[in-house]
Amino acid sequence: MTILKQPQDWWKTATIYQIYPKSFCDSADKGTGDIRGIISKLDYLQQLGIDAIWLTPVYQSPMIDNGYDISDYYAINPQFGDMADFDALLEQAHQRGIRIIMDIVVNHTSTAHQWFQSALGDKNSPYRDYYIWQDPVDGEAPNNWQSKFGGSAWALDEATNQYYLHLFATEQADLNWENPQVRQEVKDIIRFWAKKGVDGFRLDVINLISKQQDFPNDDSGDGRRFYTDGPRVHEYLQEISAEVFQQYGSVTVGEMSSTTLEHCQQYSALDGKELSMVFNFHHLKVDYPNGEKWSKAPFDFIQLKQIFNHWQTGLSNNGWGALFWCNHDQPRVVSRLGDDQQYRVESAKMLAASLHMMQGTPYIYQGEELGMTNPGYQDISQYRDVESTNMYQIMVEQHGVQHDEMMAILAQKSRDNSRAPMQWDDSTHAGFTQGTPWLEVASNYSHINAQAALADTNSVFYFYQQLIELRKQQPVITQGSFRDLLPQDTRCYVYLRETETQQLISISNYYADPVECRLPPEIELARAECLLTNYTQQPMALSENVVALRPYETRILLINK
Ligand code: GLC
Repeated sequence: MTILKQPQDWWKTATIYQIYPKSFCDSADKGTGDIRGIISKLDYLQQLGIDAIWLTPVYQSPMIDNGYDISDYYAINPQFGDMADFDALLEQAHQRGIRIIMDIVVNHTSTAHQWFQSALGDKNSPYRDYYIWQDPVDGEAPNNWQSKFGGSAWALDEATNQYYLHLFATEQADLNWENPQVRQEVKDIIRFWAKKGVDGFRLDVINLISKQQDFPNDDSGDGRRFYTDGPRVHEYLQEISAEVFQQYGSVTVGEMSSTTLEHCQQYSALDGKELSMVFNFHHLKVDYPNGEKWSKAPFDFIQLKQIFNHWQTGLSNNGWGALFWCNHDQPRVVSRLGDDQQYRVESAKMLAASLHMMQGTPYIYQGEELGMTNPGYQDISQYRDVESTNMYQIMVEQHGVQHDEMMAILAQKSRDNSRAPMQWDDSTHAGFTQGTPWLEVASNYSHINAQAALADTNSVFYFYQQLIELRKQQPVITQGSFRDLLPQDTRCYVYLRETETQQLISISNYYADPVECRLPPEIELARAECLLTNYTQQPMALSENVVALRPYETRILLINK
């Protein structure tokens, strides 16, 4: 077996590529992607230059939430292949110097898991206490906590007249981390995969594992304040880290739902006692007016910059963050913050550069490197995602939202926007499958696809390739301090990264109108070298320190001190 050496902190100069296997590449004409399909694309990923793959769940699962509902943590879902396929993927990836990060979903299991099946309807089951049970209150659910996918977070087990907690779908029952046996099981699962040679773990909604044990009613919200960054979460993470992650030198990234900077400083503290790094989502709520995801809205640019600034300065020297615009739960960024028509290529590159020059570890979600767009589904029957279909029902049937309005909201916000199949070439179904795809391919695949991108030296693909390379070449990207140079500018994001020997300036116009921006006098623009831009180069400054930017123009400048 090829084992990659794990120089400490390799992930600080790395770029990680996220694969959602169901939508990536189908090797067997069945309409869903699989592990063999991934293996067939490893050369493509190597060409892009990524260091590691984060593989979303491939375990045995009824697929209510596409694998985030696990029924056996030790088996591969036959839809994706078998353990021999997985071992081959690991080996083939390692031979190309690509590491594999597995998704670990242990806030909850599928209700089809044998633990839950044994616990259900039997208060004496040895697995009953693996889950969270509460008696009814006044004949109703124990409290008003809401599921993240809509409706109550509690479901009744009629045989025992107790409710179990499910913060996500009814078929995803929350595990009871107070029970040391549950924690032992979790450690065993992770050890099993680490022993196989897996290089790291992405921990699904890991900051929700510790619930306040009196399960109070929430008079001012949906209950999240009683289980988000909960009372024992740091203790639990330290336990797993000491007993498993640190033993195997695993890289770890925690998905942190509705978290705070203070907690993330502790989760990703540089002493490595908990996790290597964290995902937070605050920057992806700038188009949720008053926190409401299920509405249509433009994004708030100033707020976006403020959030990045807060996290960049707050984690600097204190922790480490993941940098990302896209994943399998988010719409495509070029449709969301860019222009997915006239300036698709320019805006996709600008957004990439504006993010990748920050401190942290960048993640690229499959197809982002092609500037893939939201698919623009028009009919509710085109959606598959449990959250989207639940929300359609709740909003239209219970809240009286008009069908057309809800379709427009889904077209902007649904998770299926990113789950539409990967666009490989211009053949039928974009080369994703020879069968019928489980989710429709976006109709623009005839010109937006990997084959076309590889043939065009000016494509978004090669721009990402350069960004990945730059991070390895320029220490200032990993180490530099961070300062927003024009926080009040309503069009441009201009920030400075600085070490004792280098200054790196990232300048981006986030809009389709040309704009001029004046850099502060202490920046010696005349001495700057342009490392990367999404337009053919033009003179650096109009007059002293004034830069003219074309639509969605971005420039990365370097000044050696
Ligand atoms: C995470 C996953 C998401 C899933 C949820 C429940 O947020 O990214 O896809 O639905 O957890 O496991």
